[in-house]
Amino acid sequence: MEREQFKSRLGFILISAGCAVGLGNVWRFPYIVGEYGGAAFIILYLIFLAALGIPIMVMEFAVGRASKKGIARAFNELEPKGSWWHRFKWVGFCGLYLLMMFYTTVAGWMLAYIPKMATAPFGMGMDVSGMFDSLLADPVELVVWMVVACLISLLVCSLGLQKGVERITKVMMVCLLLLIGILAIRACTLPGAGEGIAFYLLPDFGRLFASPEQFSDATFAALGQAFFTLSIGIGSMEIFGSYIDKKYSLMGEAVRIAGLDTFVAVVTGLIIFPACFAFSVSPDSGPGLVFITLPAVFEQMWMGNLWATLFFIFMGFAAISTVIAVFEGILSFWMDQWGMTRKKAVLINCVLIPVLSLPCALGFNVWSGVELPGIGNIQAIEDFLVSNNLLVLGSLVFVLFCVTKRGWGWKSFLAEANEGQGMRFPAWLRGWMSIGVPALIIVILLMGWIPLIATWIGG
Ligand code: ALA
Repeated sequence: MEREQFKSRLGFILISAGCAVGLGNVWRFPYIVGEYGGAAFIILYLIFLAALGIPIMVMEFAVGRASKKGIARAFNELEPKGSWWHRFKWVGFCGLYLLMMFYTTVAGWMLAYIPKMATAPFGMGMDVSGMFDSLLADPVELVVWMVVACLISLLVCSLGLQKGVERITKVMMVCLLLLIGILAIRACTLPGAGEGIAFYLLPDFGRLFASPEQFSDATFAALGQAFFTLSIGIGSMEIFGSYIDKKYSLMGEAVRIAGLDTFVAVVTGLIIFPACFAFSVSPDSGPGLVFITLPAVFEQMWMGNLWATLFFIFMGFAAISTVIAVFEGILSFWMDQWGMTRKKAVLINCVLIPVLSLPCALGFNVWSGVELPGIGNIQAIEDFLVSNNLLVLGSLVFVLFCVTKRGWGWKSFLAEANEGQGMRFPAWLRGWMSIGVPALIIVILLMGWIPLIATWIGG
């Protein structure tokens, strides 16, 4: 059977951006920026995006485009005979599943909040924090919304690459960009919004360098964000490289995708902070920010139900576009590895993904006692395994594969990345990619594990 390709370049860019734009942008990015010094932190983040995120994304695309296969077969196609790179496909396989095992639950929260916000009795002293707590405490409601998120996304994937994933994600991303514009204009024109904009965007180097610990935490957060937001290292971008032709060079495409991703992340903060400051609500961090703080803001706003509903539709699009993209990677794995049809892969995963996502959903209620010291509940454990381990380890594999002669090799990588019109991959980055990036990745792994082990030993 002939392998499907994207219908258009725009489709490829928007779907890859859809994979990148997700909870990391609309939920995590704004509050870490607020916490670590506004634009001062954004500068740090952009440095890591340019030095690590974008080059690794180009490597993933190049492996995909040269092999014309998903991660299940890509290494087999390109590796020297007799080598073992293909075994690393399992890092990607585990990463794709583990990411979805907690992501589908949070995507479900976003969907659950759309009807909740549309019908909330705003202005009548409603208990916004009680609403979130009771959602988390109800295993049935959590599981139902998680299953809804899985089924919607699998349904889209079941329609095929062009007719499902490309067509629907394109519409969703365009709507997302429209919504983000409308919401940001609304928030930034509220009386008193200026203070929020200043808090969010004025570079505050004092906050970034407040103490060595603060700076090291900020660096770790910026590094983690660069990996998480581009979902690199597990083959979720690689698969989209396998569906494109050689008309455009890969660096230009990666810069466009990362640019769109950063734009959404930054502008989301322009919705959250001005709105919080305008209504004197202190911006929280973590889940509380969008599920408790913002509803408290919407409650005071004129036409609050409308703005709150639009906000959660926007959040829902961001989350579901990532779920669809990662599911496409998962389904292609099954199709490439075990030679099955898309339909069969969808049917298997209709059961497998919701079942694997159960522990996360139940970890907020019936299994809330399951906790790992230093990390937290089941969701936090899964997040740690993916964000601090599999994304970075997988990225290391892609980098080493592309730079060493024992893998695919620098020359083959560069030739593939530079084929087509557009921006070239800087050849002088070779030393940095061969030594700097692997060394930095090892530091990241250690920075994740050392405090944890210290907690466990310290008891
Ligand atoms: N890239 C996805 C996000 O940022 C995982 O949410």
